[in-house]
Amino acid sequence: MPEFTSEKILKYCEAHTTPESNECRAIADETFATSDSAQMLVGPVQGMFLTLLARAIGAKRVLEIGTFTGYSALRLAEGLPDDGVVITCDVDPEVTAIARKHWQNSPHGGKIMLEIGPALDTIAKLTGRFDLVFIDADKENYVNYWEACVPMVRTGGLIIADNVLWSGRVLDPKEKSDHALVEFNSHVAADPRVDVAMLTIRDGVSVACKR
Ligand SMILES: C[S@@+](CC[C@H](N)C(=O)[O-])C[C@H]1O[C@@H](n2cnc3c(N)ncnc32)[C@H](O)[C@@H]1O
Repeated sequence: MPEFTSEKILKYCEAHTTPESNECRAIADETFATSDSAQMLVGPVQGMFLTLLARAIGAKRVLEIGTFTGYSALRLAEGLPDDGVVITCDVDPEVTAIARKHWQNSPHGGKIMLEIGPALDTIAKLTGRFDLVFIDADKENYVNYWEACVPMVRTGGLIIADNVLWSGRVLDPKEKSDHALVEFNSHVAADPRVDVAMLTIRDGVSVACKR
């Protein structure tokens, strides 16, 4: 995945970011050893960013869309108090088996609830307010995820969306997923329910705060 910062600067950022936990490191190691899609992990700097945001807003109830091997779910759980909960959704029972295996080694793993199935179906069954939602699954559904989640987020809560720059393809969209991200970014920027900042962290991260 192309980054928007030089390799040297990224390494410097990583070296000056609080190190990931052993359990997160183990997830990353196994993912890189076994998957061709390991670049989908948020990585150590963005991972710490998620932990910090969850902790900074005092989040107790988090929804994640797109679990994969469980790295970002554990980073979010690490930012929650002992009675916090991360509900995380994925369609793939195979990759999420890796997640389950590593979560049980973490003191924060008990906060994570995995829901297997299309995320829109899972979200439709959820009730109650969330403090933070992290959107990181199929790009064609980003606007649908947004519309399903914004009403569920409390005032002052955050909706964070990953890959919003889509390797820069948002500037010259060709594929369906490119257009989906372009539409999503315009949709969010025009939404009066939130304030949003689009950041060039990794593949682009939008952080929106519900008004
Ligand atoms: C980018 S990865 C998530 C990476 C993870 N957030 C991390 O950083 O550790 C995207 C995940 O979304 C899942 N996914 C794709 N379509 C989905 C859908 N309709 N509902 C739920 N999950 C879906 C994929 O199976 C994949 O594991």
